[in-house]
Amino acid sequence: MSYARWSILIACSAGLFAAGLDAAHARIDEPTELVDQQHCMFCHTSDAPFLAPSFRQIADRYRGVPNATAMLEIKLRKGGRAHWGDTAMPLPSERGGPLSAEDAHKLVEWVMSQ
Ligand code: HEC
Repeated sequence: MSYARWSILIACSAGLFAAGLDAAHARIDEPTELVDQQHCMFCHTSDAPFLAPSFRQIADRYRGVPNATAMLEIKLRKGGRAHWGDTAMPLPSERGGPLSAEDAHKLVEWVMSQ
């Protein structure tokens, strides 16, 4: 690999690293494709409770709660007991298809950044 290509690679990784650091404070970009495929916005909005708690309410509730993100990722993939009312979230199979652990992680990171 030429020197020029290496420097591009290094510059890119530095950019990614900076974006990662920033994510602790700023909102993470919506993973739109996943959100559409899983119809998240059919029931949720960012800031107003609708058929489901808003993503901001969810982020506020679980911010600083140990293991909350791991719990939410499992919940998105496999379902679980309702935490907000009587209605639990539908399973991925009813939302648009199976959800990988990696994609569940992306979605939860995004929800928690709101
Ligand atoms: C058919 C409606 C519907 C869809 C579609 C939906 N949700 Fe939900 N979601 C709900 C309801 C209802 C609740 C409240 C469940 C409860 O009481 O725990 C909820 C709760 C949640 C919670 C909090 C769970 C908890 O244990 O507190 C998260 C996080 C969440 N949704 C993320 C998502 C994401 C991300 C998507 C898209 C992948 C999505 N939801 C799609 C209805 C929906």
